[in-house]
Amino acid sequence: MSPDPLAGRRILVGISGSIAAVKLPLLVSALVQRGALVRCLLTPSAARLVSAEALACLSRQPCQLDADQWSHQAARPLHVELAEWAELVLVAPLSATSLGRWLHGLGDTLLASTLLACEAPVLVAPAMNTAMWSSPGVRANWQQLQSWPRVLPLPPEAGLLACDRRGDGRMADPDLLVLALESLALWGWRRDWQGLTLLVSAGPTREALDPARCLTNPSTGRMGVLLAQAARLRGARVHLVHGPLQVPQSWLEGLSCRPVTTAAEMERALNEAQPTADAIAMAAAVADHRRATPLLHKVSKQELASALAGGWEPVPDILRGLVLRRPEGQVILGFAAHSGDVLAQAQAKWAGKGCDLLFANPIDQPGAGFAAAGNRGWLLGPQTDQVSEWGPASKLALAHHLLSALRLQIRPPGDAPVSDAVRPQGSRAAADP
Ligand SMILES: Cc1cc2nc3c(=O)[nH]c(=O)nc-3n(C[C@H](O)[C@H](O)[C@H](O)COP(=O)(O)O)c2cc1C
Repeated sequence: MSPDPLAGRRILVGISGSIAAVKLPLLVSALVQRGALVRCLLTPSAARLVSAEALACLSRQPCQLDADQWSHQAARPLHVELAEWAELVLVAPLSATSLGRWLHGLGDTLLASTLLACEAPVLVAPAMNTAMWSSPGVRANWQQLQSWPRVLPLPPEAGLLACDRRGDGRMADPDLLVLALESLALWGWRRDWQGLTLLVSAGPTREALDPARCLTNPSTGRMGVLLAQAARLRGARVHLVHGPLQVPQSWLEGLSCRPVTTAAEMERALNEAQPTADAIAMAAAVADHRRATPLLHKVSKQELASALAGGWEPVPDILRGLVLRRPEGQVILGFAAHSGDVLAQAQAKWAGKGCDLLFANPIDQPGAGFAAAGNRGWLLGPQTDQVSEWGPASKLALAHHLLSALRLQIRPPGDAPVSDAVRPQGSRAAADP
């Protein structure tokens, strides 16, 4: 398993005056536990809402306040020192006021002047009351921020707000912020999927034997969901069709999700979404068989062996169907999970599927496959002699590699392939010494 992408990274956490600031101490603690070096700074309003002492204790570093900027003992201006120290910056929560200051080049707090002096990538997560969030000035500022280099903007979600209102304005979940920071550390802020639509399938499907039992597999959906979220962070519009998942619910924020249970439901949902997709990543682990006729009553233990032995039929080959129906220019990535000689089996499968790329991964090795945090495997295509071995790496790192490979295949009509600038780093292509 490769090292944690957050371990040893210098992360500056800027906190402004929103009640969502109370979520930050635990987020800071989570970053420190992953080996990150964290320094915090609070605006005067944020310091009224969350304790600088708690942040200092959990980050193992002094927490910086506006008063610290004016010290006769400082050899260098604090905002410049902090800006140059940071490899990654998280501003969460970002208040309407701090957003406005930053956008208009005003540096009248330590956070504001640090952001102006900073050249590191910045992840920003606003939080505010729904009416504030939809007010024209805030909309205009937020809109403008989307085009700024080095900035990864994570919009707020809908939810119950501290003002007792339900609506847009709740800060992105702390689990998602940690994932987005990890993505920033691995890939940066570049939005090479902007304007493109990715359709992803994830998780297992379930086929009922009877009302009490089913045929399924141990897929958690982690690989597919991380692909979807990484693509969203790179600017894509993402539709996710997923079976029952075992991942943090917050990892689904910002995705258009369609939950399904059976292979037939998954096939229908994917077919409906296919026409508008520029690319498809078929990461779901679809159960292979289903009952030809569903059993409506629970089978007794005595009858179970015979019920399991017969009455099953293969489910449709969803990937093959997508390949046959795809509109011109649509690019498709398939997945193949195998035990034993993974590459040989994947090469055999590859010939019959017709997708552009196929990622084959083992399910019988430690640290890879179902439920693991990491993965490794081989990427096949688009020419038969192109096989590259990837990993072991975290599933998020792998998701970024796969998105880069997929992005290279997407060609606007009449256009050349996208430039080598987005070629995945660290891939070892056999045909590309
Ligand atoms: C209890 C409380 C909660 C607040 N919550 C928010 C909020 O969620 N978002 C926001 O933009 N402003 C919020 N404000 C208002 C800001 O704190 C205020 O605009 C302040 O000037 C922000 O300054 P700063 O960006 O320097 O922290 C809140 C104020 C109070 C008193």
